[in-house]
Amino acid sequence: MASVTFDKATRLYPGGDKPAVDQLELEIHDGEFLVLVGPSGCGKSTSLRMLAGLEDVNGGAIRIGDRDVTHLPPKDRDIAMVFQNYALYPHMTVADNMGFALKIAGEDKATIRKKVEDAAKMLDLTQYLDRKPKALSGGQRQRVAMGRAIVRKPQVFLMDEPLSNLDAKLRVSTRTQIAALQRDLGITTVYVTHDQVEAMTMGDRVAVLKDGLLQQVDTPRNMYDRPANLFVAGFIGSPAMNLVEVPITDGGVKFGDSVVPVSREALSAAADAGDRTVTVGVRPEHFDVAETGGLTMVVNVVEELGADGYVYGSTATAEGSQDLVVRVGGRQVPEKGSSLHVVPRADEIHVFSTSSGERLSK
Ligand SMILES: Nc1ncnc2c1ncn2[C@@H]1O[C@H](COP(=O)(O)OP(=O)(O)O)[C@@H](O)[C@H]1O
Ligand SMILES: [Mg+2]
Repeated sequence: MASVTFDKATRLYPGGDKPAVDQLELEIHDGEFLVLVGPSGCGKSTSLRMLAGLEDVNGGAIRIGDRDVTHLPPKDRDIAMVFQNYALYPHMTVADNMGFALKIAGEDKATIRKKVEDAAKMLDLTQYLDRKPKALSGGQRQRVAMGRAIVRKPQVFLMDEPLSNLDAKLRVSTRTQIAALQRDLGITTVYVTHDQVEAMTMGDRVAVLKDGLLQQVDTPRNMYDRPANLFVAGFIGSPAMNLVEVPITDGGVKFGDSVVPVSREALSAAADAGDRTVTVGVRPEHFDVAETGGLTMVVNVVEELGADGYVYGSTATAEGSQDLVVRVGGRQVPEKGSSLHVVPRADEIHVFSTSSGERLSK
């Protein structure tokens, strides 16, 4: 087992005008499950491939434990990778697929068999060891790919969207299995996904990337409660956080017909930047529906989920109209077409600089 360090690691593809991964600084603890998440093209796979040795590092360094692996070939890094397309050998049985790397490494037959059987037991694959991959379901193939990584007992697991070929229901159950398996094995894992729900449910910590730049590394809880900037605020959480640009007034911000108090520090930071507005973030569950005041919202769609409901609507702003999502109790869902007054809870709002996007509130 080992920690993993990206020390200002940079990848500039030949002919590219800006780095695909730009001075990535990330310290992954021994035994940790770290999820790299971000929209398509943000540099997740590139980061993982740099760690695997499949992509050159053009600046900075990468370390596994105390070893500088920046320029080591993949085979000398003691890592195992699971890809989106499982890349199983079609002509080999499940057992041979799982044991292949050990065979190449020159381990004896009996040892290989023992390791493969142990991994198969963990993954519920014992009865399929003699089958070929084509005779397996997608979920089973995915587990064979996991098994192939597990038998090698590497220092680090790397997984690049390993669940994206599974259907939605299987994806949910498999993500729990992978997280549990990783906890049992205690092997440091870097897991890549574009799906923020996957990231939030699986990771000990989550690292959000955008345009090759690290935005925030945090526990799922902190990421949700204290997003560092507007991008993370909008990316993490479903339905997404409402982000509304509002004028600054004395001691707070003007939120429709209400004044919502905001800390003096946040307001003066905005004023120092020369801003006359801030962007306020409110999660759907942090609005109260009131008789008057706040923002007036016209209800467009109501999503009833039983225990609660999501109200999708729009509100008039200086710039035109803005969409809002508000969570309400399952027994208090409003009619489509009706109007609601919604007021954010002052102690639950997030305040961001409109100009820089950085978080201003504590
Ligand atoms: N082999 C390559 N050559 C040139 N550019 C690449 C190559 N692979 C990826 N890129 C570019 O680098 C950026 C990051 O890609 P990638 O790491 O695959 O993103 P992600 O996995 O987050 O979707 C993208 O702009 C992509 O087009
Ligand atoms: Mg990718």
